[in-house]
Amino acid sequence: MAYRWKNDLTAADVTPKAAFLNRRQILKATAGLGAIGLVGAGGMAHAQDALAPNTLEEITSYNNYYEFGTGKTDPAANAHQLVTSPWSIKVDGMVDNPGDYALGDLLAGLTVEDRIYRFRCVEAWSMVVPWNGIELADILNKVGVQSGAKYVAFETVVQPENMIGVQRRVLDFPYVEGLRLDEAMHPLTIMATGIYDELISNQNGAPIRLVVPWKYGFKSIKSIVRITLTDQEPPTSWNKSNAREYGFYSNVNPEVSHPRWSQASERTIGGGLFAKRKPTLMFNGYESEVAGLYAGMDLAEYY
Ligand code: MTE
Repeated sequence: MAYRWKNDLTAADVTPKAAFLNRRQILKATAGLGAIGLVGAGGMAHAQDALAPNTLEEITSYNNYYEFGTGKTDPAANAHQLVTSPWSIKVDGMVDNPGDYALGDLLAGLTVEDRIYRFRCVEAWSMVVPWNGIELADILNKVGVQSGAKYVAFETVVQPENMIGVQRRVLDFPYVEGLRLDEAMHPLTIMATGIYDELISNQNGAPIRLVVPWKYGFKSIKSIVRITLTDQEPPTSWNKSNAREYGFYSNVNPEVSHPRWSQASERTIGGGLFAKRKPTLMFNGYESEVAGLYAGMDLAEYY
């Protein structure tokens, strides 16, 4: 029988909400400092700042919800246009009970849990986020996974009239992601409906998004409208756009660097402007929970 995960972090570890909301401004500020050499004065452990600082452009051109544009303030400016009610999720593929489920029906009777998780972006910054969500396993068990299924594929809503990034085709939409079935069934994997004890905002992926805390943030697909059980490894958006840089697994791994960013250490959002980088933990600190999923795999090959 699956165990229920207990938080290893407490409220005291949580990134202050203001810092969470203002993270791009904070990154911009620290990127500026890095460029003039004020960050990373702490010796070898922080030498990465001096050797390979992210440029301001790399950080500020990065965005978390490309459907609403690639500019750093685009999601904040545009995500109010997302229509989240009514919301239904198509469940299809290798399931006993496929269908178009109203969100409330799909989640009815399932337990919403509080999870305080580390969140690690591949661009080498991190936060601690208090989510409210439902274990994906509970949802999958409810719809009944058939025995041949090996993967779960996810799809984000496409509302072209409301989504400037879709109109401009900045990525091949819909945004898609996927997990191996055992990853999807792991008790750490949740479908989040809340954040900081409030309903999740449009910008963060309302009304429901995936959270897989041992993987880089881009696996956390937002505003999900389709869940498909399949026996084939599903395509994933960033892998489609740049396979050399983004693999299917995307596990946080300090030993396997992204071509443009070392993954050995990370900058903590909300840790103050002069916070030192801290070493990145294998599987983002969830090694004892999830390492077994990858036993015998070469993680440099399956990145
Ligand atoms: N989901 C969709 N549909 N579109 C996106 O552009 N960006 C991803 C991920 N999910 C993205 C997405 C990336 S790159 C990250 S780091 C996280 O969302 C960021 O989530 P947050 O904005 O809640 O921190």
